[in-house]
Amino acid sequence: RLTVVPSAGDVADQVARRIAAAITSNPKLVLGLATGSSPVATYQRLIQLHRDEALDFSQLTTFNLDEYIGLASDHPQSFRHFMQQQLFDHVNIDLANTHVPDGQCLDIEKHVAEYESAIATAGGIAIQLLGIGSNGHIAFNEPGSAADSRTRQVSLTGQTIRANSRFFDSVDDVPRTAITMGIGTIMEADQIILIATGDVKADAIGDAMLGPVSPDCPASLLRMHNDVTFFVDESASPKRD
Ligand code: F6R
Repeated sequence: RLTVVPSAGDVADQVARRIAAAITSNPKLVLGLATGSSPVATYQRLIQLHRDEALDFSQLTTFNLDEYIGLASDHPQSFRHFMQQQLFDHVNIDLANTHVPDGQCLDIEKHVAEYESAIATAGGIAIQLLGIGSNGHIAFNEPGSAADSRTRQVSLTGQTIRANSRFFDSVDDVPRTAITMGIGTIMEADQIILIATGDVKADAIGDAMLGPVSPDCPASLLRMHNDVTFFVDESASPKRD
């Protein structure tokens, strides 16, 4: 499904309302989270709902999509740090129930297997939030990633390194490798919500929705899922016929 709304603020309102409704009906919800610019406004709305309407995060369990390899959890550009700043520090979530891959783990093979097990033990992800890269990547599953890929170590493409360098002092500081949930892992979520705003995402949304279903555009593989909604603002909506 595609939901097009006028502005990025409207995307955030609708996605936050949907997540809040799911938390209210199941306080023990297992939520998959993303980092990057796309979900920030949604997280702000969720914080507002916590403050204004007592939205309760205390029993929630979360799993983040990915983390850079080599960054400590308190590094300003680590995704763990991002989540603390953008959401966890501002709501009543139990940090013991929040999971972000450990970019400094010593045994990556063991860590990714444990990450998959932890998702399974939690009962699987009910709602997975995603952004999309301008090359169609989801999480750090770059073009060419297999539809059945699992949580693993990956190398980032030059395009992603350049895109993400906006958060670092220089492009040389951007880690070249990451741990990411696989496409197969993401596809096991009961429901998937992808957020895209701004015209820089319009081509990727067009490819994902209207192009071939192919690992060349990882987000296109989401069309094989039976409950996925792309929430986009007008500028990110697909422009072709
Ligand atoms: C983030 C992630 C990435 C981003 C994507 C878009 O956890 O997995 O796939 O969702 O790179 O990033 P933004 O939202 O910054 O444009």
